[in-house]
Amino acid sequence: MTAAMPPSPSPRSGSGGPPASTVELVVNGRSRTVRLDNRTSLLDALREELRLTGSKKGCDHGQCGACTVLLDGRRVNSCLVLAVAASGRPVTTVEGLAAGDRLHPVQQAFLDRDAYQCGYCTPGQICSAVGVLAEAAAGWPSAVTPPGRDGADGSVAGLDAAEVRERMSGNICRCGAYANIVPAVLDAAAATAGAGADGSDGGAVGARS
Ligand code: FES
Ligand code: FES
Repeated sequence: MTAAMPPSPSPRSGSGGPPASTVELVVNGRSRTVRLDNRTSLLDALREELRLTGSKKGCDHGQCGACTVLLDGRRVNSCLVLAVAASGRPVTTVEGLAAGDRLHPVQQAFLDRDAYQCGYCTPGQICSAVGVLAEAAAGWPSAVTPPGRDGADGSVAGLDAAEVRERMSGNICRCGAYANIVPAVLDAAAATAGAGADGSDGGAVGARS
């Protein structure tokens, strides 16, 4: 993991502008230093500063999941994370999941299952599903996990449709493509069972470039 570089704040600019900071954004394995208004969300920094427009803005209020990315390997709503708080921490967006021409198993499963209509929610759904597989592999129970079955064996093979619906409930699809999204996540779980939670041969969730 890259050592976190604290943002270097500065008082208001001489013109009376808003407080700004120099921030190191470590996205998909690449580090870039940008100067940002302290109020800039991680989502806006990704889209407007780094031109990584895969992460989508649906509500900008943490309610739809379209902006989901992985921060320190865990899924977050990037519209609710200040970019300054992500300084120096590894971020993975949908653009960083594939390994060259080889799609991440979750991406492949979404394609195979035709798990989208307009596609606007899809990057967030895919990043969230990658997070789900990592959480399940780590043995984290969900609200519907029966007592005594906590997945502590590190397997994602035990995920069922109810688990996927619950764990993906923060990702809204206004096209209603859930009937294909759930099977896609289950396919990805089956494809990654026994491999790393990111679908690799054992690495942690993160940038693969
Ligand atoms: S845009 Fe972030 S949750 Fe909707
Ligand atoms: S595919 Fe259109 S919002 Fe989900």
